[in-house]
Amino acid sequence: GNKNINAKLVLLGDPGAGKSSLVLRFVKGQFVEFQESTIGAAFFSQTLAVNDATVKFEIWDTAGQERYHSLAPMYYRGAAAAIIVYDITNQASFDRAKKWVQELQAQGNPNMVMALAGNKADLLDDRKVAAEEAQVYAQENGLFFMETSAKTATNVNDIFYEIAKRLPRV
Ligand code: GTP
Ligand code: MG
Repeated sequence: GNKNINAKLVLLGDPGAGKSSLVLRFVKGQFVEFQESTIGAAFFSQTLAVNDATVKFEIWDTAGQERYHSLAPMYYRGAAAAIIVYDITNQASFDRAKKWVQELQAQGNPNMVMALAGNKADLLDDRKVAAEEAQVYAQENGLFFMETSAKTATNVNDIFYEIAKRLPRV
């Protein structure tokens, strides 16, 4: 039968990695070249139909700037899912993504579905992080991995859909 599932989802990652852009693409189908840096966090919701269930994502788009780090637990506590975002053209953002994974593994909900998003996949000429390296890292740490582009929409719906499929069915 039909099931309605509410799922709190948090996005974490370096400033400029593209968290807000991924959410804007997923929720509104839009992209802006000069997206403003998030202050604190922003809330969105979006519903997806997956198999026989309807998943309503309650999305917390956090601010990547270091001064907001101490707020993060408010957003990931109790979250059913997390997308950890880095920018494939920025090695430091990948290193920071691994720190977020460690923090979630230590402090987050143990059943959390975690996705690693290598964003800005449209900027292939500027790539600094190999997809293979991220894939291996994700596999070793129990995340699933996709390269995404908020700009071209590549894999944006797909990553949310993949999360929805992996959520525990109550
Ligand atoms: P904070 O809110 O500061 O933590 O940053 P954020 O992770 O939310 O990044 P944001 O979505 O604001 O994106 C930063 C910049 O990268 C913006 O100028 C976006 O237009 C750009 N951007 C985001 N995603 C992509 C992408 O997939 N491709 C390209 N080329 N640019 C992108
Ligand atoms: Mg933002």
